[in-house]
Amino acid sequence: MHKTHPNITLAPIIGHRGNSAAAPENTQAAVIAAHDAGIGWVELDVQLLGDGTPVIWHDKDVARCSDGKGNIGRLHWAQASKLDVGGWFGDAFRGERMASLPSMLTLLNALDMSVNIELKINPGRDVKALVERVMPLLRSALSPERLIVSSFDAQALAYCRHYGNARELALGKLFRALPADWRTQCQSIDAYSVHCHWPRLKRYQISAVRDAGYPLLCYTVNDPSAFHPYWALGVSSVFTDDPVTFQRYLLNHSNELNHPNARK
Ligand code: G3P
Ligand code: MG
Repeated sequence: MHKTHPNITLAPIIGHRGNSAAAPENTQAAVIAAHDAGIGWVELDVQLLGDGTPVIWHDKDVARCSDGKGNIGRLHWAQASKLDVGGWFGDAFRGERMASLPSMLTLLNALDMSVNIELKINPGRDVKALVERVMPLLRSALSPERLIVSSFDAQALAYCRHYGNARELALGKLFRALPADWRTQCQSIDAYSVHCHWPRLKRYQISAVRDAGYPLLCYTVNDPSAFHPYWALGVSSVFTDDPVTFQRYLLNHSNELNHPNARK
């Protein structure tokens, strides 16, 4: 094992932005919904508000997932914390508030859950400021076995690796299409895992990632039957918006699927 890699037990199903089919994405409600469905791992996006508050949020602005307007990089917590971030999803979630990273970490610990935190670098945002704000919070709240930090941004992951005493830290490199130099990129940050957009993955690429010893995590997979053949090729986990449907599929097909964790 790499000296920088914690001893992680990955689950085959990771709730993408929580259980985002059942509750508004990236909220405490979505994490609770994942936990209620028996899902132990969730993926959440983090970025900084204009006043430096780290929040669990995907988009560069709040238009799609709240009752307000404005860029994340310009909003302050006093404004962002008043937004309704649940009503857009359904009346049952009206009144849901944006989660700060510290409040989300408290919830994850209370539920004994594991998390893939994606450092979301929207255009124009300060990579170093995000890493310097987020890393101490993550490291003090979560044991290394329950945390993967990922990003599309190679610089962000390089900062994480060199930040403080980040000796035991699982880093996941996100790719859209897997580039020819993926291996060099992963080696340079001592990546733990490779996270890929599954429709673009070629069979030989899956084999190469697996043979190089990296867990391969695929996003965002919402059709368990279309994904079925990929398990046998060596994929470790999927990020799915609908972990309940996926879980049911895996259980119903456990005899055919070549995945150690698919049998329960
Ligand atoms: O981390 C997997 C996936 O979330 C990456 O894309 O845009 O959904 O954050 P996105
Ligand atoms: Mg994400």
